Amino acid sequence: MSEEKKYVLQVKDLHTTFVTDSGEVQAVNGVSFNLEPGKILGIVGESGSGKSVTAYSIMQILAENGRVTSGEVLYNGEDITKWSKKQMTGFRGKCCSIIFQDPMTSLNPVFTIGNQLEEAIRLHTGKSKKEAKERAVEMLKLVGVNEPAKRVKQYPFELSGGMRQRVMIAMALACEPDILIADEPTTALDVTIQAQILELMQELQHKLGMAIIIVTHDLGVIADMCDEIIVMYGGRVCERGTADDIFYEPAHEYTKGLLRSIPTAGNTHERLQPIGGTPINLLNMPEGCAFCTRCDNAMKICLTQVPEELQVGEHHRASCWMNVKQAMEEAAK
Ligand SMILES: Nc1ncnc2c1ncn2[C@@H]1O[C@H](COP(=O)(O)OP(=O)(O)OP(=O)(O)O)[C@@H](O)[C@H]1O
Ligand SMILES: [Mg+2]
Repeated sequence: MSEEKKYVLQVKDLHTTFVTDSGEVQAVNGVSFNLEPGKILGIVGESGSGKSVTAYSIMQILAENGRVTSGEVLYNGEDITKWSKKQMTGFRGKCCSIIFQDPMTSLNPVFTIGNQLEEAIRLHTGKSKKEAKERAVEMLKLVGVNEPAKRVKQYPFELSGGMRQRVMIAMALACEPDILIADEPTTALDVTIQAQILELMQELQHKLGMAIIIVTHDLGVIADMCDEIIVMYGGRVCERGTADDIFYEPAHEYTKGLLRSIPTAGNTHERLQPIGGTPINLLNMPEGCAFCTRCDNAMKICLTQVPEELQVGEHHRASCWMNVKQAMEEAAK
C-alpha cells in the first residue's frame, strides 16, 4: 500500500496565521502528523498552543482573519487545501466532523434538538424529512440519550451538560464520517460524566470504525484511549509517541514539565509543580525552541535554533536539543 493510501488524514508542515491589529499571530508553525483509519490520535498542550487552530485549519473553518499560509492536508491522499468551497462543505460532515469546545455555543438555543439533528442529517445526505427524523432518534439512542423520542422535542437548555455533549456527538456522527475531531469534548463536564463520554466515544469508534482526533489540555484523561499522542507547544509539535512513551519516557523538556504539573500514575508521590514562566507570545516567537524561555535546562543553541525532530524510540520522536546533547555525549564515551 502506498504511504498516502495508508492514512485517512495527513497533515504536512501546516502553518496558520491570524492578522491582528498588533501584528501577525503565528498560531500553527509547521505541524505534521498522520492518522490511520480507525485510530485515535490525542493532541495535548496548554491553552493557546494551537490545538483548536490546527483542527479548524484542517476543516477550513478559521476566523475571517485567519489563513493557512503553507502546508498540505491530505484526505485519503488528496490535498484538500486545494478543494473548492463546495467540496469542503461535503468534506465537513461526510468525511470529517467536529465536536466543538463549547457545546452551548454550537447548539442553537432557539431550535429543538430534533430540528438541529435533522438539519445536520439532511444537509449531508439525501434523506427525506421523515427519514431524517427517524435517523435523529436512532442517533440519540446510539449515544445513550434516554427517551430519545421525547428528547428530540426539547431545547438545548432543557438538557444537562452531559446530555448536550451526547447530542453534539450524535450530530457529529449523523453522517458517519471517516474522521471525528473532538475538541476538548469533556472539559465542561464533571469527572464521572467525563469518563462516560470518553467511554462512549471509544465504544462508537469500535462500532463505526472512524478515526478520532481528540484535543485536550488534560493528558491524563485521554492517555488510555489514544494510539498516538502529540504534544504541542507554541504551534509546533514538540513530541509524539505512544501514551507509554509520553508518560514514562518523556523526551522533551516541555512534556516533562507538563507531566510534573498534572496528577498521573507516575506522579503520585511528588507535589504537583506548575510550569514556570509566562506562556509564549505568538506575536513574537523565539528564534529557537518555542519553549526555551521557560525551560530550566535551556542551552545556548536552544535560544537560536529550532530543534529538528529526532527519533528517540520506535514510534517516539521529539524536538529537543537535550536529546542531541545526550546522543553526542554517548557517542563520545
Ligand atoms: N481569530 C483569531 N485572531 C487572532 N488570534 C487568534 C485567533 N484565533 C486563535 N488565535 C490565537 O491562536 C493561538 C492558538 O489558539 P488555539 O485556540 O488553537 O489554542 P488551544 O491550544 O486550542 O487552546 P485552548 O486549550 O485554550 O483551547 C492563541 O494564541 C490564540 O489567541
Ligand atoms: Mg482550543
